[in-house]
Amino acid sequence: MSKILVTGGLGFIGSHTVVELQKEGFEVVIIDNLSNSSINVLDGITAITGKKPIFEKLDLREKSAVQEFFKTHNDVKGVIHFAASKAVGESVENPLLYYENNINTLVYVLQELNKLKEANFIFSSSCTVYGQADELPITENAPVKPAESPYGNTKQIGEEIIKDTCKVSAQLNAIALRYFNPVGSHESALIGELPIGVPQNLVPFITQTAIGLREQLSVFGDDYPTEDGTCIRDYIHVVDLAKAHVVALQRLLAHKNETNFEVFNLGTGTGSSVLEVIKSFERVSGETLNYKIAPRRAGDVIAAYAHTEKANKVLGWKSDLTLDDAMASAWKWEKHIREQ
Ligand code: WQD
Repeated sequence: MSKILVTGGLGFIGSHTVVELQKEGFEVVIIDNLSNSSINVLDGITAITGKKPIFEKLDLREKSAVQEFFKTHNDVKGVIHFAASKAVGESVENPLLYYENNINTLVYVLQELNKLKEANFIFSSSCTVYGQADELPITENAPVKPAESPYGNTKQIGEEIIKDTCKVSAQLNAIALRYFNPVGSHESALIGELPIGVPQNLVPFITQTAIGLREQLSVFGDDYPTEDGTCIRDYIHVVDLAKAHVVALQRLLAHKNETNFEVFNLGTGTGSSVLEVIKSFERVSGETLNYKIAPRRAGDVIAAYAHTEKANKVLGWKSDLTLDDAMASAWKWEKHIREQ
């Protein structure tokens, strides 16, 4: 049973990916420093799969700790690297925190992988690298634009670091997965998105407003050049996204990759406006959402949704779950955590 390291494995996408890895029979080791996640997530994963992953509380910013880890776990066959800070606004306020936490950690992990006979690396990237793409849907060949935030810059730099390392490494094979907008939760409602403080992202703000934690949702602008005036995004169910990570890892383990650095967009291929997301939520929950139209948010792109052909035909993955599925699961999760 291949041992797979999942860094940031107690986070939103990481925890859902650990569940899918265990379902596929992988042995999973999670590294997480619990700075943006809770140890209770480990119980949620175990409750779903019946298998408790190995967990090591470790801060990847400590190079010696990373070296120690790989001395102990030198039988790791693959790494899925989620560990990073990911709040766009916070990255503008505190860029050095982002460059240290998102770049140094990546370098330390890659340095250890370079000592292994074979290393398979899946990198958590983001459609943020495209900025406002000139053409929609967005393909993997769309130009990477100057980042709108230090967070987005760390994803662009991260991909470059991996690409340059793969060029001179005989044993490193990597895939960068550029997520669109991950939403929803596992159907069991035992794991889900756990934003700390006021949610920056749309869907947790919707569910927290509906449950009464937030007074009202502000829709950031309805004067964009779109059908209903609100921004368009590609909302992909986190379980579909998690499954894509397993498919990408299996591609590398089976040496099916065409080059030793590949990039795939992960989205549904369908764009949904903010108002359409609100309507989807109201439809599946039966709730009437309290929202108002507010000024635009700086840094928002008008529209972004994925061209899915490469992921479908080359990676051999496509999304199955719908926006309604995502909203229903997000609502079920919100109600579950408020019952605690
Ligand atoms: C979606 C839409 C907002 C909140 C970000 C990161 C991206 C990835 C996903 C990490 C936009 C609108 C939002 C609110 C609103 N994160 N909105 N009211 O900005 O597309 O992507 O999160 O990898 O890298 O950039 O997601 O959910 O913040 O916003 O109207 O209270 O919802 O204006 O149009 P975004 P989001």
